[in-house]
Amino acid sequence: MKSLLVTGSSGLIGSEVAKYFAELDWRVHGVDNNQRAVFFGEQGDTRWNQRRLEQTLKTFTHHELDIRDRAGVSALVREIRPDAVVHAAAQPSHDRAAAIPYDDFDTNAVGTLNLLEAVRQSCPESPFAHMSTNKVYGDRPNTIRLRELPTRWDYDDPAFADGIAEDFPIDQSMHSLFGASKVAGDVLVQEYGRYFNLPTCCLRGGCLTGPSHSGVELHGFLSYLIKCNVEDREYRVFGYQGKQVRDNIHSLDVARFIHAFIEAPRVAQVYNLGGGKANSVSILEAFELVKQHTGKPQRYTYVDKARAGDHICYYSNLRKMREHYPGWDISQSLESTVRQMVEAWAGRVAS
Ligand SMILES: NC(=O)c1ccc[n+]([C@@H]2O[C@H](COP(=O)([O-])OP(=O)(O)OC[C@H]3O[C@@H](n4cnc5c(N)ncnc54)[C@H](O)[C@@H]3O)[C@@H](O)[C@H]2O)c1
Repeated sequence: MKSLLVTGSSGLIGSEVAKYFAELDWRVHGVDNNQRAVFFGEQGDTRWNQRRLEQTLKTFTHHELDIRDRAGVSALVREIRPDAVVHAAAQPSHDRAAAIPYDDFDTNAVGTLNLLEAVRQSCPESPFAHMSTNKVYGDRPNTIRLRELPTRWDYDDPAFADGIAEDFPIDQSMHSLFGASKVAGDVLVQEYGRYFNLPTCCLRGGCLTGPSHSGVELHGFLSYLIKCNVEDREYRVFGYQGKQVRDNIHSLDVARFIHAFIEAPRVAQVYNLGGGKANSVSILEAFELVKQHTGKPQRYTYVDKARAGDHICYYSNLRKMREHYPGWDISQSLESTVRQMVEAWAGRVAS
């Protein structure tokens, strides 16, 4: 039986990956310490998801470990010697990072180094998929010429008609401290590939989402927006007239891509992993889409100040992913993802 080590296993991506590989009969070792509840308070608590994995997946083992614990990470990797590693533990919020700069950097940059070095020491042949972010591009995507449409911003430059590709520059722009710590992790993962020849990849996520997301105001916009609608809470829109655009990818499609990479790994690769133009949506459009499923208009207020470094329009160009892994493509439409999330939030509110 093959074994997988997945960090952040109680979170959105980690739990989807754990489930996906357990169902393929892999032994899955999950690492998480519910740090999301420390970052975001009770609303970010992921213990429910950990319990769900432990109760439903026969081959899943939870390890209560902080990835900042260098000796602990090294010992666990040495003991398991996993056949593949998926690194999804992180401080994931752009806005939260400024209040907790040491926790943010120690988790996103140093935690990633701890894991990479442990893998190099114990199982250097094992594919290593790292969850990076489109925030490594900082706010430079905002320098692309835009046009304003009735409900969204869009690129007004044919070079970006299909979205932003992996050769987009990453420096000399505002990243937020989160973007900076994720750049450090991203470059380290590439370096362990280029310098040490480890089969690594960085997945620069757009908005990753799905029914297992514990969305909060500071992270997980679509999940949180749906939660607000379902619970009749007010949602706050920050700037850009609510026309800012995000591309959304279901966590299942993230897990499917990671599987494709692990089956046919390459070295030091970078992929922009998002829903692409077809799964892009503005906040105003998301209100309408969610209303179609809940029957309720969104209650919201408009704050006339954009979040620092926020993207006005971002969608990923998926060409490189499709070229390298032709068997993979987006399988979950935005409509279907929203429907699943509405059902999940309605169930969680009722329970
Ligand atoms: N969700 C998105 O929209 C999105 C977008 C781009 C990139 N990403 C990246 O994808 C990855 C996964 O994101 P997610 O949405 O699943 O986040 P998440 O917050 O749902 O999951 C992360 C998990 O990591 C755990 N964790 C945090 N710090 C830890 C530590 N020090 N030790 C052990 N566990 C720790 C948390 O408790 C949480 O369960 C992150 O690297 C994130 O930056 C996410």
